[in-house]
Amino acid sequence: MKKAQVIIDRDFVVGEIDKRIYGSFIEHLGRAVYDGIYQPESEFADEQGFRKDTLALVKELNVPIVRYPGGNFVSSFYWEDSVGPKEERPARVDLAWKVIESNRFGLNEFCDWTKKAGSDVMMAMNFGTRGMEAALNLLEYCNFEGGTKYSELRKRHGYEKPHNIKTWCLGNEMDGPWQIGQKTAEEYAILAAQTGKAMKEMDPGIELVACGSSHSGMPTFGEWEARVLEEGYDVIDYISMHQYYGNPDDNTSGFLASNVDLDQFICNVIAICDYVKGKKHSNKTIHISLDEWNVWYHSNEQDKLLPKWVQKPHQLEDVYNFEDAMLVGSMLITILRHADRVKMACLAQLVNVIAPIMTSDRGAWRQTTYYPYLHAATYGHGTALQTIVKVPSYKSEKYGDVPYLDCVVVWNEAKEELVLFAVVKDLEEDMELSMDLKQFADFQVVSHEVMHHEDVKAVNTEEHPDTVVPTQCKSVYVENGILYGVLKHKSWNVIRLEKVRR
Ligand code: AHR
Repeated sequence: MKKAQVIIDRDFVVGEIDKRIYGSFIEHLGRAVYDGIYQPESEFADEQGFRKDTLALVKELNVPIVRYPGGNFVSSFYWEDSVGPKEERPARVDLAWKVIESNRFGLNEFCDWTKKAGSDVMMAMNFGTRGMEAALNLLEYCNFEGGTKYSELRKRHGYEKPHNIKTWCLGNEMDGPWQIGQKTAEEYAILAAQTGKAMKEMDPGIELVACGSSHSGMPTFGEWEARVLEEGYDVIDYISMHQYYGNPDDNTSGFLASNVDLDQFICNVIAICDYVKGKKHSNKTIHISLDEWNVWYHSNEQDKLLPKWVQKPHQLEDVYNFEDAMLVGSMLITILRHADRVKMACLAQLVNVIAPIMTSDRGAWRQTTYYPYLHAATYGHGTALQTIVKVPSYKSEKYGDVPYLDCVVVWNEAKEELVLFAVVKDLEEDMELSMDLKQFADFQVVSHEVMHHEDVKAVNTEEHPDTVVPTQCKSVYVENGILYGVLKHKSWNVIRLEKVRR
């Protein structure tokens, strides 16, 4: 059995955890909006046509912020088509996903939906077919109190009070050849800086996310971020990162190594942000919005067979297995280990489209990936502690050395709770764990939730929704101020400790 020693100290912190790292994403894509969150004809619909069963799961996840309306979709989206009386809204061609968008659900409905879900809005803008003018009009519609063309239009649409959306994305993946209106770094940098500047003139309270590279392997990675930040440093608050992983070669250990790459990607983006900061002698620090991350590959082949120019096809409907849930857990640990710089992150996406929640006409269910997301969003609050893990590693072909244990410890001072998140990547043997609790010596284990399945390909389906679910485990304990225990091979673990109340 391999041994893992976890080392923490209450005073050695990474940073405060921003709850918005547990954000998600709803794009007008496939059945995310239609049938996912909105289905007026459904037996589960509320008075606004929102699915109550989906809403209940979204509330269980406590999703703090939801990015909308895309994604690639946004780069040919006309927001004006999605507001006002529904019967007057036109159907439009969605060039990104080659479908028809009915506009029966639009930005006002989304704002209403997020209120019911208890989430904030992260609004993405069209920098593909449009640019500054449309962005300013949209901001005026959403955030301006009244007395102007677009704020009065909003009122006529039944929204007397502004939506006061704080977080705005200056386009989506503008470096990507697949993006409608792809731009060079130079073109995008100027457009983003000028638009951001004008937007902040109208509403200084907003915060802006500029597009970084679409993924770490983009040929312009690095130069793109540097150019965008050099041009817009004063108005940009966050640089975006997007990253998806897959296991098309069916190599579980190699696949589970992917968050080593995510960690390196985050380190590289931080280095570029700080390079520009240094060059500009600035006191301002740019933070990261990892506003698309997930596992995505299962649906790639079947999606090639889908018909074009239909409405709400079953697009990107990945069915997630147990190894996917382990990697999602590991990616969450990586995000937490960078809590000082990653201040927003969106699991892409939320419902039906590469999502933790699936729906059919008969109801909604939780995919395997739902659980690590739920656990982190529920218990991962407070301060991320520097977490040293002494454990053997294995070699992965793509990403080099991979520790057999991924781990981060979170200190929630308000609740006097210490939470350890861990993924065991040993596929064969259980692992011995020890952690000197030091300043937390009088803490005891209150729960240990474990997700484990012998079959890494096991999935949750509508018929069998509980094949892979967390269970309570009693294999860890505290003795003389040290946490000991045995963790299951291939497992996701959440160990919570609280101060003993005498
Ligand atoms: O989330 C699915 C797609 O992935 C998004 O539309 C796009 O931004 C990314 O490439």
